[in-house]
Amino acid sequence: MEQTLSIHPDMHVGEIAAALAGATAVFRKHKIDFCCGGNVPISEALERKNLDASLVLGELRALAATPPEAPSETNALIEHIIRRYHDTHRAELPELVKLAKRVEAVHRDHADVPAGLADILETALDDLGEHMEKEEMILFPAMRQGMVGMVDGPIAVMRHEHDDHALTIRALQEITHGYQPPAGACRSWQALYQGVDKLVSDLTEHMHLENNVLFPRFESR
Ligand SMILES: [Fe+2]
Ligand SMILES: [Fe+2]
Repeated sequence: MEQTLSIHPDMHVGEIAAALAGATAVFRKHKIDFCCGGNVPISEALERKNLDASLVLGELRALAATPPEAPSETNALIEHIIRRYHDTHRAELPELVKLAKRVEAVHRDHADVPAGLADILETALDDLGEHMEKEEMILFPAMRQGMVGMVDGPIAVMRHEHDDHALTIRALQEITHGYQPPAGACRSWQALYQGVDKLVSDLTEHMHLENNVLFPRFESR
């Protein structure tokens, strides 16, 4: 299957965390800060920690070379994107908003309360909802009709919106300290961060499949 994301030593840690599903697990394993300290090139982060660059970059590249499981035929791939990702975001995001509101209210006096998380999730719910609707109503139907080379405009808009989603992912990583609840956090707080972690990894895979697998089949250049 065509893909992939190439990992360069000058890419920023946070950028990799937002674009490559599974990268955060690699960063956690090597204790590389991908949220608050994510604005440095990966090469610099590795040097600071005295980590073997070829080893860690190799792990990241191996991840990038293993794209998410998905059908290769175009119509089946579109159907998979809608069922596996669009429907999942629609089901899970509203629940996360509610949970975040509850955690923020109950723990408002806690030093680590993720103040503003519910707002970020609510904005993501709106933005992602509109974005997915455009894909389902305009772009995907045109793709199903085989309009190769004729949908460059809509694809460019979707790619641009994906960049905005990547910024949202960075914000979610920062506000949750890499999805790590504080010691002694209650069940809801833990469930919230687990849910945000899953949302982000689904969204990362989702955008990867569109940006690197589906869209290039229809772009004229
Ligand atoms: Fe999508
Ligand atoms: Fe998209």
